[in-house]
Amino acid sequence: MTRCFIIGHPVAHSRSPMIHGHWLAEHGLGGSYERVDVPPGEVAAFLDRIRSGEFAGGNVTVPNKEAVLPLLDHVSETARRMGAVNTIWMEDGRLHGDNTDAFGFLAHLDDRVPGWDGRVGTALILGAGGAARAVVHGLADRGVGRIILVNRSPARAQELAAEFGANVEARGWGEADGLVAVSDLIVNTTSLGMQGQPPLELDLAGLRLGTIVDDIVYVPLETALLGGARARGGLPVDGLGMLLHQAIPGFERWFGVRPQVTPALRARLEADIPAA
Ligand code: ATR
Repeated sequence: MTRCFIIGHPVAHSRSPMIHGHWLAEHGLGGSYERVDVPPGEVAAFLDRIRSGEFAGGNVTVPNKEAVLPLLDHVSETARRMGAVNTIWMEDGRLHGDNTDAFGFLAHLDDRVPGWDGRVGTALILGAGGAARAVVHGLADRGVGRIILVNRSPARAQELAAEFGANVEARGWGEADGLVAVSDLIVNTTSLGMQGQPPLELDLAGLRLGTIVDDIVYVPLETALLGGARARGGLPVDGLGMLLHQAIPGFERWFGVRPQVTPALRARLEADIPAA
């Protein structure tokens, strides 16, 4: 039986087992996908269990996504650029790692707003952490001409922008409200607005009709940011889709079947998310 895992610390909250469990049942596969609590100091020992054949591969989540990278035998170019790995698997006796967050972000955006890249000239990104890095790399790869980063800690936004050319710039957090009106796509990559976190205070008064507003927060599913965008004629894109789509490449590698993000899968996850 093919056994897979998600390792994190803590890991009890992860919704990944629900996603992979759904696909295993849908495709009639006899494999498993298990939560394994692995503190940072025990990551190397856990990787030895994969090498010895106990597992085919799995996902890596907080706080292990960076620590796992130098311990693998092969790391994809994408994961290297992210400085973080979220998907690992055995291939030809070697342990491989990739990062599928940018893929997941883009696949969901493609699904929700087909052709978005043909009409997004300027993107405003709130935040400059790991999720922002995935989003900026994804947007830059798809040719977005101008990407503006704003972050509470300006140095982090400047550091991220410095990895790119003139098309990515860092601006002050206080400038965000004024930048809303020049943006065709706005993405919240911070934890603000998530249940239990402080609200995201972004003034959407200047939002243009049809501006895409994407929030990677998915608890609640419709955040105040998305509700505000909807009320002003913007196009809201929720964060759940990124979570679902980032899981596709891993499942395909471990189980040999490329799964789909279906309405039934979405409904199953939505039922598990508390309302706002
Ligand atoms: P992730 O991997 O989910 O992106 P992260 O790397 O810890 O997590 O980044 C969290 C992001 O949310 C950062 O941009 C962080 O801003 P700082 O770089 O200034 O820490 C942002 N963030 C978290 N809490 C915030 C708050 N209360 N106000 C503003 N930004 C916040």
